[in-house]
Amino acid sequence: MTMSSFLAFPMDNLKPAVFLDRDGTLIEDVGILTHPEQIRLFPDTIDALQALSGNYVLFVVSNQPGISKGLVTSQQVASINFELDDLLRKKNVRIRKWYICPHQRNENCRCIKPNPFFLQEAAYRYGIDLSRSFIIGDHPHDVYTGDTLGVFGLYLLTGHGGRHLPELPADRLVFHSLLEAAHWISKHPQPAQQLDTSVRDASAVIKKGGVVAFPTETVYGLGADVFNTRAVAKIFKSKRRPLYNPLIVHIAEIEQLASLVSDLPDTACSLINCFWPGPLTLIFHKRQTVPDIVTAGLSTVAVRMPAHPLAEKFIRLSETPIAAPSANVFGRTSPTSATHLMDQLQNVCDAVIDGGACRIGLESTVLSLTDAKPRLLRPGAITQNEIEQVIGRLMFSAVPSAKPGPLESPGMLSYHYATKTPLYLVDNLAVFSRRPDVGVLLFTPSELMFEGPVELLSPSGDLIESATNLYAAMQKLDLLGLSAIIAKSLDQTGIGIAINDRLRKASFKTGQPPTEHAKKPTRSPYS
Ligand code: TXA
Ligand code: MG
Repeated sequence: MTMSSFLAFPMDNLKPAVFLDRDGTLIEDVGILTHPEQIRLFPDTIDALQALSGNYVLFVVSNQPGISKGLVTSQQVASINFELDDLLRKKNVRIRKWYICPHQRNENCRCIKPNPFFLQEAAYRYGIDLSRSFIIGDHPHDVYTGDTLGVFGLYLLTGHGGRHLPELPADRLVFHSLLEAAHWISKHPQPAQQLDTSVRDASAVIKKGGVVAFPTETVYGLGADVFNTRAVAKIFKSKRRPLYNPLIVHIAEIEQLASLVSDLPDTACSLINCFWPGPLTLIFHKRQTVPDIVTAGLSTVAVRMPAHPLAEKFIRLSETPIAAPSANVFGRTSPTSATHLMDQLQNVCDAVIDGGACRIGLESTVLSLTDAKPRLLRPGAITQNEIEQVIGRLMFSAVPSAKPGPLESPGMLSYHYATKTPLYLVDNLAVFSRRPDVGVLLFTPSELMFEGPVELLSPSGDLIESATNLYAAMQKLDLLGLSAIIAKSLDQTGIGIAINDRLRKASFKTGQPPTEHAKKPTRSPYS
């Protein structure tokens, strides 16, 4: 007997659904909730659910092991869900059913995620077409829940998403927020097939000399065939990027290096073994065949192998290395989602591969291997310390400079990665707590109450999570019509060095923060 003959609904009436985790996905994860007053909706939950509810039946599927542990009662959980349901109904959002697993993992129940018990139950009871459905959550087990049933999982960086990100396999898509995920779903009703088509179409565009925006694990790139000078010229024009600033060439297979570099130092082999594919760009002496426009006339070329399955497939199918800067207007923040890049570069890309959010969120570490002594030109997620463990002591030469011109690495320009709203690095955030017109980038939770909008980059104070969220948060604050954005520098350790570098560059032109009391923001936060 087939699955369909069990169903209470005829196949052609089946509807697609979105299954949503509760804590960390719809509401902030603040531990075990016992009272409805503890509910804190994320600012975009309502908008996201409204966007989804036009085309999808909505379900909440939540693991609440606190019930079995005796930390909360089923009635308390039910009253919280009732309150949330009521709140959502008032906004015209209907949750068809709230599914709760009350067990702990060692109880071996059938209903704990990632077991797909409730998804099958929903399909049976409510006539759901699981093959067109999605599941969204902030824990890896959320996105695995529908795997065996063809339900596509989307992972959120909200809630515990940042903390558990290292456990999530590289081929799973991640999103900064529920709203970003909802928009992605609306554009990808047949996700697996559409992703495949979009990568294939994008590589066809490259072969015809077009430019493509594509995701990498660091930030989105705007790419063209490295050997097609007209296509590469189009990148410079679209980005308004000065021709003195050379591009990074992206490869998918180590064999592609031979077409770009004239010699491979021993240090390169060790670094490649350790860090490729990954967020490390290496600078080599170039082959004559690499066009001057790519390297800005330098005799060297920057190469990296991105660790992102969609980037890897796109480059491989393009059958050529891809020259690509970050997909932002020159000087602005690098995009860490396709939405973010469309804000800046709409209409200039011949194709866009929308792979959700970038997991690292900061541009790659750039290391020059063209002299006897390797030199760090741009700090990134792969730290100086990690590199030194492989090849010994480094020289650091990413010295800030105000002068634009033919620098060895124009990424050393002091002014870069900026928001339109002036950004200030301040010693004391408290001075600005009464300023509704000042947005705050916070790296750890603070006791201070700010009147202006606050972007908390990591609820647990984790710097890797902060890096992932940094540009998205800067972009969000930038859209609010504020008079200023403020942040406090981090300790110069680990990825904090790269974050400080980007903040310093973003704030370079702004000088001292304004002290006068300025006007109200032109737009309310999160409106
Ligand atoms: O993570 C990344 O590196 C991203 C993604 C898309 O791969 N790309 C990126 O590209 O950040 P872009 O163009 O924004 O930054 C490239 C940096 C610039 O600082 C540039 O000056 C430096 O690499 N660079 C490129 N070629 C160089 C060369 N031959 N010598 C020295 N620096 C070079
Ligand atoms: Mg959760």
